[in-house]
Amino acid sequence: MTRLFIKNANELLTVRGHSEKPAIKEAMNELHIIEDGAVWVENDTIVDVGTTKELEQKYADQIGEAEVIDASGRVVAPGLVDPHTHLVFAGSRENEYNMRLQGAKYMDIMEKGGGIHATTRATREASTEQLYKESYPRLDSFLKHGVTTVEAKSGYGMDWDVEKRQMEVAKTLDQDHVIDIVSTFMGAHVIPQEYKENPDRFVDIVINEMIPKTAELGLAEFNDVFCERGVYTPEQSKRILEAGREYDLTPKIHADEIEPYGGAEIAAEVGAVSADHLLKVSDQGLEMMADKGVVAVLLPGTAFFLMTESADGRKAIDAGVPVALSTDRNPGSSPSTSMPFMLNLASLTMGMTPAEAIVAATINAAHAIKRGDRIGSIEAGKQADLVIWDLPNHMQFSYHYGVNHTDTVIKKGKRVIDKGVLV
Ligand code: NIG
Ligand code: FE
Repeated sequence: MTRLFIKNANELLTVRGHSEKPAIKEAMNELHIIEDGAVWVENDTIVDVGTTKELEQKYADQIGEAEVIDASGRVVAPGLVDPHTHLVFAGSRENEYNMRLQGAKYMDIMEKGGGIHATTRATREASTEQLYKESYPRLDSFLKHGVTTVEAKSGYGMDWDVEKRQMEVAKTLDQDHVIDIVSTFMGAHVIPQEYKENPDRFVDIVINEMIPKTAELGLAEFNDVFCERGVYTPEQSKRILEAGREYDLTPKIHADEIEPYGGAEIAAEVGAVSADHLLKVSDQGLEMMADKGVVAVLLPGTAFFLMTESADGRKAIDAGVPVALSTDRNPGSSPSTSMPFMLNLASLTMGMTPAEAIVAATINAAHAIKRGDRIGSIEAGKQADLVIWDLPNHMQFSYHYGVNHTDTVIKKGKRVIDKGVLV
């Protein structure tokens, strides 16, 4: 058995008490901090949490055999969870970035065959090895930013063989890399160009062919769709998500990003675990989400990078919706792996306090991928995914914006980042 003892944390952010259900309202602003905190880990599991004094007394006879990390003057937090990424793809789109900086619009670029279509062409042409090779360093970068679990969507194939390869690469990466990957099928990312004249034909293929095959091969846990004018209509989105549910694929939805389109309402109706983006969500949509406990995964980096106004995180929290945060890592609308920067943006552009942003990026993010019982907080019995930030208190996390404070990352009880560097 391996033992790990982290002691003397200036602040130990436990984020406890929400393993069953995500935190909402005032509870989102409560980190349950232990000053001079300590954690006792055995193998990959957190066994005990308390003050340094308490745990030193309790484990006095075993400390000699443990690896000891002195977190003096620093913050110990749960590993960050990124519940929405498009991890596996080929190429990059800085040319479109350049066009957007000169006035072109994201959706117009896509309508002209660029955007998601451009990445789809690059991904279709890439070998499985190339997809793996391009995606692996993205995970290293996530880890260096304190992220220990990542959700990954398919959706740059929109052709069964390529969708399947994307999900297989995600599976291999999950085995090979220390980061845990949770997989989502997103065959309905856009209407593929070859089905432009007959989108319903493609919807039928997603429903009758791709979803059953995804489930049969156990390639994903979630089923996502981009519900937006010019992409999938609310009716098509609902059909796709309900079809997935028949195969035990939990619904997720890209909702109300560009205009109010009823996506949040659909999320509530189909029992989605999360509705993501929500820049233009309606009041009714928020109310329905709060009612059903649908997690709002907000992506402030996407708004920042597309130079639009962010979602209203403050309003969502006040409406009783559990809010989570994510990078949306993808080549078009958010090429960043920095969860810390998303937390900065949550405070600076969405009205969320540093504590709310931390809850959103840990326990609530874990709930957005149905992992609230295993990760997202520092509590006995949970997986030992922890981060030490080189900061005296959690508030400085978003105060020094744009800076990566990740000092040490512990994944399943093992030190995988030391002084910011991969071990
Ligand atoms: O979440 N909104 C749709 N899909 C992605 C963008 C994918 C891309 O541009 O390649 C998103 O922002
Ligand atoms: Fe996305």
